[in-house]
Amino acid sequence: MKAAVVTRYGPPEVVRIADLPMPQPGPGEVLIRIHASTVASGDWRLRSGTAPRGFGLIIRLAFGLRGPRQPVLGTELSGIVEATGPGVTRFAPGDAVLAFCGVTMRCHAEYRVVKADAAIVAKPATLSHAQAAALSFGGTTALHYLRDKARLQAGERLLVIGASGAVGSAAVQLGRYLGAEVSTLTSAANTALMRQIGADRTLDYTSDDYTAEAARYDVIMDCVGATRFRRALPALAPAGRFLMVAGDLPQMLGALRPGPQGKRCLGGPAPERAADVALLADLAAQGACVPLIDSSYPFDQIAQAHARVETGRKRGNVVVTMV
Ligand SMILES: NC(=O)c1ccc[n+]([C@@H]2O[C@H](COP(=O)([O-])OP(=O)(O)OC[C@H]3O[C@@H](n4cnc5c(N)ncnc54)[C@H](OP(=O)(O)O)[C@@H]3O)[C@@H](O)[C@H]2O)c1
Repeated sequence: MKAAVVTRYGPPEVVRIADLPMPQPGPGEVLIRIHASTVASGDWRLRSGTAPRGFGLIIRLAFGLRGPRQPVLGTELSGIVEATGPGVTRFAPGDAVLAFCGVTMRCHAEYRVVKADAAIVAKPATLSHAQAAALSFGGTTALHYLRDKARLQAGERLLVIGASGAVGSAAVQLGRYLGAEVSTLTSAANTALMRQIGADRTLDYTSDDYTAEAARYDVIMDCVGATRFRRALPALAPAGRFLMVAGDLPQMLGALRPGPQGKRCLGGPAPERAADVALLADLAAQGACVPLIDSSYPFDQIAQAHARVETGRKRGNVVVTMV
């Protein structure tokens, strides 16, 4: 089968298509013919070796010194079950499914074996394979931060910074679903899109200063590491939560000390839970949280997809299609 392989950190051109052995499903596993996957910001980091400031050494020790230890990247997929191993009753050949493989990756390939009890669910019929492939990376992160870390309540006021990215666009829709009043901070080019996906208020980061909105927000979710907890403090209401999805080491150190009036900063990696992927698939089927597609590339142009992600300007998700 064809797979996109990265053996050393570098620019998009280091990604090459190679022939790898066809995987075979073992007991309790399903073989999926992948129709679509995404090049997520995590894939860009792993391909380029770019870590948030202060985490370079830790990331290289964890993922590989000169190149990614797992050369086939790709965290999420949508496709059709090709075959099942012994003992699988949940899925059958021909089923349309989506799966979140997270840090085990290997979705940038024509086929992948997934455990039948992992984060794999039926693809909602209303979603294309491209949309279904883009459900999990941004969605699970946004869901975990808003529901589990912030414990966002109906009626609370949420500001999503970097709302036009994969995590941010899921956060806007999930914030609405959880009953919050959602404001977004994006460039002017993206404010209309924010309204389309459910934002109640839009701010433009080139002309609006959200920190001037004294005690306006119960939750501020910075999806792109654009600001700091201390800078956001004036705009946070008492007991407000600042969600640092993408902070670097200086930002994290600066947030160790709690703010006044019970204001807190919360961060850290989002877990990869099968139940969250199932919930996101249900919400997508209801139209409550549908992944945004920035652009789609045929698999053999995956290097261009990496280049698009590397701009830092994508709106939602960049997809690669294998079928
Ligand atoms: N903690 C975790 O577990 C976790 C999980 C997943 C991802 N992450 C991290 O979260 C970050 C975001 O991931 P992502 O995939 O959502 O990113 P992304 O899709 O690549 O973000 C791109 C978007 O960010 C916007 N943007 C860039 N700079 C901005 C700024 N200063 N203010 C407001 N918007 C800005 C861009 O809009 P404009 O062009 O309009 O500026 C663009 O639409 C990454 O650093 C990733 O590593 C963390």
